[in-house]
Amino acid sequence: MQNNTFSSSFVGQNLIELERVDSTNNFLKNELSNSKPLPEGTVILAEDQFAGRGQFSNKWLSDAGKNLTFSVLLNPSFLGISSQFKYNIAISLAINDVLSRFIASESFKIKWPNDIYFGRDKLGGILIENVLTGSTYKHAITGIGLNINQTNYPVDIQRVTSLRLITGREHQLPVLLEALCQAIEDRYLELKAGKSAQQYKQYLSKLYLYNTPARYEFNGHTHTGIIKGVSPQGLLQVEAEGKKYEFNFKEISYLHQ
Ligand code: BTN
Repeated sequence: MQNNTFSSSFVGQNLIELERVDSTNNFLKNELSNSKPLPEGTVILAEDQFAGRGQFSNKWLSDAGKNLTFSVLLNPSFLGISSQFKYNIAISLAINDVLSRFIASESFKIKWPNDIYFGRDKLGGILIENVLTGSTYKHAITGIGLNINQTNYPVDIQRVTSLRLITGREHQLPVLLEALCQAIEDRYLELKAGKSAQQYKQYLSKLYLYNTPARYEFNGHTHTGIIKGVSPQGLLQVEAEGKKYEFNFKEISYLHQ
């Protein structure tokens, strides 16, 4: 275990820094499947992640050395498996907590299910891969990718931003990582202490397009809908044409990009 000087008490205390890896989530998964007992809060940080993964089998592209690409191991066995989305909420809030320190306005948003947005542009994403044993939530492999100092993106990647593009200055990755580890620890302990209802309220206040009429595509048609919340199972609740709907990740597309 490499002890570092982070202010958090367990998240990031075991920090494994890799120069180059396919994906920090894969690395963490492999370490766990080799039955290595890793302490809760272990963080795998990659300078260069050459096969980063996003949600729905998307790729996560990130220029080496410019951004944060890391995975955190947490063991939320205190949550029932039907409450896994509460964990997503806690992690999204933690990231939002740190980013919000850079801009006074309320401009950072959490786009359901797990994206971090600034205005209409994506700054980061979260890929949580849950390991369950029977009916116990054993591990949450929590991959986080945040665009920090990158300013150029491939032309086919639209609606993307970075902290540097937003603030106009370069940021120190280790300083940000430490702040994120502390915020993740704080939000995780808050969740563990039974504050999920409070976190859900805060999540709604940060939710992209919450209570705002916008265009969506679902059931093969475009609709004007209003996001009303997220169910305990993590389904997006939308009202459209006087009806209430609940959607899984792949069942609805935002047209308001
Ligand atoms: C998304 O927006 O679809 C989620 C992106 C998650 C990217 C991070 S980078 C660190 C970790 N390792 C991966 O391969 N993916 C996550």
